[in-house]
Amino acid sequence: MYNAKAYSAVGKTSPLSSTTITRRDPTEHDVQIEILYCGICHSDLHQVRNEWSGVMPTVYPCVPGHEIVGRVTKAGAAVTKFKAGDLAAVGCMVDSDRTCPECQQGLEQFCPNLTLTYNFPDKHSNGVTYGGYSDSIVVDQRFVLRVPATLQLAGAAPLLCAGITTYSPMRHWGLTKGKKAGVVGLGGLGHMGVKFAHALGAHVVVFTTSPKKKEDALQLGADEVVLSKNADEMQKHAGSFDFILDAVSADHDLNAYIDLLRRDGNITLVGAPEKPLSVSAFGLLMRRRSLSGSPIGGIPETQEMLDFCGQHNITADVEVIPIQKVNEAYERLLRSDVKYRFSIDMASLKSE
Ligand SMILES: NC(=O)c1ccc[n+]([C@@H]2O[C@H](COP(=O)([O-])OP(=O)(O)OC[C@H]3O[C@@H](n4cnc5c(N)ncnc54)[C@H](OP(=O)(O)O)[C@@H]3O)[C@@H](O)[C@H]2O)c1
Ligand SMILES: [Zn+2]
Ligand SMILES: [Zn+2]
Repeated sequence: MYNAKAYSAVGKTSPLSSTTITRRDPTEHDVQIEILYCGICHSDLHQVRNEWSGVMPTVYPCVPGHEIVGRVTKAGAAVTKFKAGDLAAVGCMVDSDRTCPECQQGLEQFCPNLTLTYNFPDKHSNGVTYGGYSDSIVVDQRFVLRVPATLQLAGAAPLLCAGITTYSPMRHWGLTKGKKAGVVGLGGLGHMGVKFAHALGAHVVVFTTSPKKKEDALQLGADEVVLSKNADEMQKHAGSFDFILDAVSADHDLNAYIDLLRRDGNITLVGAPEKPLSVSAFGLLMRRRSLSGSPIGGIPETQEMLDFCGQHNITADVEVIPIQKVNEAYERLLRSDVKYRFSIDMASLKSE
């Protein structure tokens, strides 16, 4: 065991603050990574404030962070994928059983014995896992990703959650050239959704509640932008979408978007608001529309997404902050004031 610096929350109303945690020494299959950047996902905020208490209650102290890029400092004797000095990345999962049908198909995100990167029972320590708001992490090589060397690192970190979470359902629902795609909510996930839908060749329409984000949406690759509070603007798109990605973090009217789908169109929820959403049965059944959800993506698809980003030079648009500004960043997330992901420069942890 060794000590690592980190930021943790000790309760659902307490701010994050500096702390020391223990990490395991790397086993023969492990990679130890010096964390350079970690993105701030809205899930970190939901978890820190125990907003998902019904599904995954928060265990305190909680060290969040699952958008991790860094450099390998040690590789165990059996590690073949990495050596000291390599760039490496870790997303939302750090382990699974590797034997179930889901794992065998590279769909580890559905493994019944999955270990998430933070706030999850840790098989090694018997405590809970601690995430990326820290100066280092130790992870089995199977759950460590390769980062294309051409990508700018601060902007590559958010690919590990916001990137794969938006890429995976777009691939699953066959988004290609000629299809019309909507993205609801221009935050961390939403802005990656726009970049991927555009790169996949779809006609992209952004739905936002923030008039000031209109120009940015077009710059990010949207073909059209709709202010979702304007019923006339919404009505113009009725019955026209093949696919809509809903990346909203708070309560909102899902039926307004279901009505925009064409026959057999799909709306996928990736946003995970605290409270249940209500759905009109008629909206779905009239045109055989479907509503589904999607969690992150498997390890092979995460690597595919990173390689796709390398080929298309896609990274998140980030505001790089020192870790000392993390609590302020959380408040800004709640005001939808994010352009479009906060990425923590972990060098700032050295002064703590
Ligand atoms: N499925 C998964 O595996 C997965 C993975 C990561 C995150 N998530 C979840 O996805 C959600 C989004 O995460 P994020 O990191 O992208 O959050 P974020 O950066 O805070 O973006 C959320 C966006 O939602 C819109 N929004 C916020 N409040 C709203 C309201 N009351 N009504 C309508 N729109 C509102 C805003 O966009 P506009 O200003 O454009 O309206 C905001 O920028 C969170 O719930 C998060 O937990 C799920
Ligand atoms: Zn996330
Ligand atoms: Zn499994």
